[in-house]
Amino acid sequence: MVGTQSFVRSLERSRLSLTRPDRPVEFELLGLRWDLLDEVFAPVFSPSTAVALDLLGLGQAGRGGWSGSFLEIGCGTGVIAVCAALAGCERVVAADVNPRAVENAALNAARHGVADRVRAVRSDLFSELREERFDTVFWSSNYVRAPEDYTYGSMHERAYVDPGYRAHRRYVAEAPLLLAPGGRALLHFSSRGVLGELREFAREYGRHLEVVGSVELVEGEYGDDVVEHLLLEIGADDGAGRG
Ligand SMILES: C[S@@+](CC[C@H](N)C(=O)[O-])C[C@H]1O[C@@H](n2cnc3c(N)ncnc32)[C@H](O)[C@@H]1O
Repeated sequence: MVGTQSFVRSLERSRLSLTRPDRPVEFELLGLRWDLLDEVFAPVFSPSTAVALDLLGLGQAGRGGWSGSFLEIGCGTGVIAVCAALAGCERVVAADVNPRAVENAALNAARHGVADRVRAVRSDLFSELREERFDTVFWSSNYVRAPEDYTYGSMHERAYVDPGYRAHRRYVAEAPLLLAPGGRALLHFSSRGVLGELREFAREYGRHLEVVGSVELVEGEYGDDVVEHLLLEIGADDGAGRG
């Protein structure tokens, strides 16, 4: 499903996730307990957090295999950032434009004993992070495109839609600039988004997008929506005509 219908449904998902009576204050994922604050994206009502963990190879919390530095843009509850630290990353930054998400990520880092390695920061994409470099930069994004002139009705809606893909345009342009040598800029996107538009941004900025992981799920209120989740790597264009 594309266009207006997808955007309206996503806003409805945002509204329901905040108001449904079974919204928990704690939840379980990967066999661990996590805090969930008001106004923060709830991994219990969407498969996307678990899918992102799988696409990154972080689906087995605490099993190691990672090292170096990890920046999570749009950390929400901080599950992915905390799992990166539990997997072995020595320096993790969990950033979100939503102040409640920043608070939530700090709570979960403390809860899982990695507060010394996970710094939670309020940042509009990279606005507060210009001086740092990372081995991995990752965003599980609000991949549904809202119309250019849509004005957010709440902070929580920012987890679901991106008006005019303004944030995606900036992410594609700027994420590679934050990388340490040999680092990777990654984006969790899906078929609910408009990949063609992302590829256009990439071309404009001399970048290419490579699909480095994918998984297909049946989702949606009616169980009839086949969604392909993609892990995209944003690279500098090598002139080989990719992108
Ligand atoms: C789909 S949610 C993912 C949350 C979390 N990573 C997870 O997987 O549960 C997208 C997140 O991106 C954040 N976000 C949206 N626009 C942002 C921006 N311009 N800068 C930083 N974070 C942003 C939202 O607040 C939200 O927490």
